[in-house]
Order: sequence, then C-alpha cells, then structure tokens
Amino acid sequence: MKSSLWRAEAPSNIALIKYMGKVGVGNIPSNPSLSFTLNHLRSTVEIEPSARVQWQPLDSTMKDLSEGGQQKFLRHFALLCEHWGISGDFCIRSANNFPADCGLASSASSFAALTLATYQLAKDRGQKNHDETIESLSSLSRLGSGSSCRSFFSSWAEWVGASASPVDLPYGDLMHDVIVVSRDKKSVSSSEAHRRVPTSDLFQGRAERAIQRLNALKDAFVAGSWNEAVDLCWVEFWEMHALFETSRPPFSYMTETSLRVLRFLRNEFESSGDGPLVTMDAGPNIHLLYRPDQRDLQNKTKGLMDGMVL
Ligand code: DP6
Repeated sequence: MKSSLWRAEAPSNIALIKYMGKVGVGNIPSNPSLSFTLNHLRSTVEIEPSARVQWQPLDSTMKDLSEGGQQKFLRHFALLCEHWGISGDFCIRSANNFPADCGLASSASSFAALTLATYQLAKDRGQKNHDETIESLSSLSRLGSGSSCRSFFSSWAEWVGASASPVDLPYGDLMHDVIVVSRDKKSVSSSEAHRRVPTSDLFQGRAERAIQRLNALKDAFVAGSWNEAVDLCWVEFWEMHALFETSRPPFSYMTETSLRVLRFLRNEFESSGDGPLVTMDAGPNIHLLYRPDQRDLQNKTKGLMDGMVL
C-alpha cells in the first residue's frame, strides 16, 4: 500500500566561515563557507495530502512560524513539487527538537528536512527525476534557504558556489553549546542581512578574506593548532558583524550582554591559553564548540553563565 504521510528529519549546522552576501539568483553565496553539523539540533517535517496547501506546527513545541516564514517554506515546497512533477495539495507540518524562541536558526534544519520529506513523496509516487544524490538534494535545498545545503553532510561541510560537500577534517566530535543572550525575534532577517552587506565599505575584499581564512582554518584543524582555529573563528564572526554595523543603513544584533559574554570568554582564553571555538550568527546569541577533552571547561563556563546555556 502506498503511504499517505511522508516524514524526514535533518540537523542544523553552525558556520565557522560564514555565508553572508549572495550573487545572482538561487542563493549562490558571495564566498565559500565551512560549517559543523549540529546533529543534536534537528527539525522534522511531515507532509500529508490536504484540501489546500498549508503549513501547520507539527507539535506544541513549535510556535507559529511568521507569515513570511510560512510563505518561504511553502514556496520551497512548490519549487520541489515542480522539480519532481508532484501534483496535488498538501499540508506541511514542521517542528524542531529545540525551543522555537531560543534565538537559534531553524531554517537550515527545516529546509533540509522539507527537501528530504518531499523527496520521499516523489520517490513513493514514482515521479520523474527521482534519482537524486545527497549532493543534488543539498543543491535543491540551497534554493530554499542557502545554509540548509550544508546540513546534508556531517561532521564538516564546505559550500562553494552552487554545491556543498563533506570535508574530511579532524575534530568531528565537538560539543556544542549556545549562550542564549536573547530570545527575541530578529528585527532584520538573515535574508535581509544578505541583501544589505554589499552596501558596506568593508564588503570590498570580503570574498578573498573569507577564502583565505577558510583555508587557514582547515590547515589549523589538520595541524591540530586549536588556538589558531579559535582566533580565526573569532575574527570571522567579528568581520560579519562589522559588515552589519557598517551597512547602509547599518543594523545590529550585538547586545550589551553579548559583548559582556564575549569579553569574558576572550579574557578566559587569554589567561588560561585554552578555550572553545566562539562564533555568532545573524543574532545576539553566542555559539561555543568544545573538544571532548574540554568537558570540565564546558561545565565550568556553563555554571558561570547563570542558566543562559542551552
Ligand atoms: C548568518 O541561509 O538563513 O547564518 O539563504 O536567505 O535563507 P537565506 O539565508 P540563510 O543565511 C544564514 C547566514 C548565517 C551564516 C551561515 O550560516 O553561513
């Protein structure tokens, strides 16, 4: 019997070299990026035939997606249906296994899960073009939301131009924490941030610097130069936030608490000579990646953060 419910899940990812700025159409990035896949932070998508096209929360952990968010999600579903020749109306349900209001980006995991669930539907219905590879699914997912194309590979993914691929690097078992500085909805979406950063005077040379930094970061991982990697990640997220702050008009995600926490983390790193990789996305929250042997440091930092660590 044919199924009438298609379901898939996918992980989120955190970029250490950032995708920020696009060229042309189809979410082609201005520069390559490198990410670590967050296998513990996942989205699930379910698709079911329905009287009309609609999005619903899959469970009560999922707060309502904004109208714009729903439209972006359903537009991607329509694009996938066209690609695979799927007809009919469906209800798309999605949920994350992390709180929706914790300020964590769920678009990477949810668009990857939507692409995979729609592919299940296409295969089940014997639709055209159903011989996809992980790489081609990743490229399809990129069309919906750029950063989702890296969620198809683990532990490390590199995204250059139209395609993402896995990268074989050490430190595949990093532990991830987020210091949740704010749970507020962003006033500038990351799609809007992509549009604005080219207006910054600092954007010139950004692609070259990102490429150079990406290569230096991979070399640092291969050489086991952890502290060098900490510094490269530090410069990279600051560069992205400097682009935000100098766009025309400028915008900002950095809060006083973000700055206080960053200063604390940097002081600890400088005084002890060891620390996690620190990075920030287009938001005020701070992501930390620890090596397994830094468990004590992770617990100590968590203890000092007064319930802010997710
Ligand atoms: C700051 O993938 O959310 O997280 O392609 O417009 O959907 P769209 O943008 P999105 O951009 C995320 C940017 C970032 C950095 C990164 O993940 O590389």
